[in-house]
Amino acid sequence: MRPSQKTRAGQGRPLAVLPGSFDPITNGHLDIIARSLSVFDEVVVAILVNLEKSPLFTVEERVAIIRELYKGEPRVRIDTFSGLLVHYAEAIGAQVIVRGLRAISDFEYEFKMALMNRRLSPDVETVFMMPAEGYSYVSSRLVKEVFQLGGTVSELVPPMVERRLRDKYGSERPAPPPARPARRLSRKRR
Ligand code: PNS
Repeated sequence: MRPSQKTRAGQGRPLAVLPGSFDPITNGHLDIIARSLSVFDEVVVAILVNLEKSPLFTVEERVAIIRELYKGEPRVRIDTFSGLLVHYAEAIGAQVIVRGLRAISDFEYEFKMALMNRRLSPDVETVFMMPAEGYSYVSSRLVKEVFQLGGTVSELVPPMVERRLRDKYGSERPAPPPARPARRLSRKRR
């Protein structure tokens, strides 16, 4: 934000928007939302309505999941948007776009997007936040793939999301293999 730029209502901290697909929301997203709340008074979680993609969860389902997760937190607002993100940010009076940066592999795409957004709307600033290390490899795409193929994702998504994944994939999901006894490492002879 430029020093001359007014914050929301002329005082306090700026309004932040956390845009994304959230298909589904992961613990990594939750971590970024928590970090955003330590810096900003209010965070708008904005779900992109992308008619070209075929998501696992409908926009309505994603809104319902995130609303349920934050029902006791008035500082988190859930909304949807289409079109340019900066136009949406301007329309709701958000001066900051928050994006999670997990690894160097995210950087190039995020860097280009931030600079393009700045070009489109110089008054909207992008802020990057790093999630806890344990979430640095977590993405919605991997969560879906692992779950669909029978892996466990219970530490990567909130329990409600895991239940919704179960509802979606249901019987087509292979059962996880039976637990194997721990393998004992053979000692090397000296
Ligand atoms: O969770 P995602 O899929 O990484 O989020 C990407 C998102 C929604 C932030 C990005 O695709 C976006 O902002 N789309 C809106 C269209 C837009 O503004 N495009 C120009 C970006 S430079």
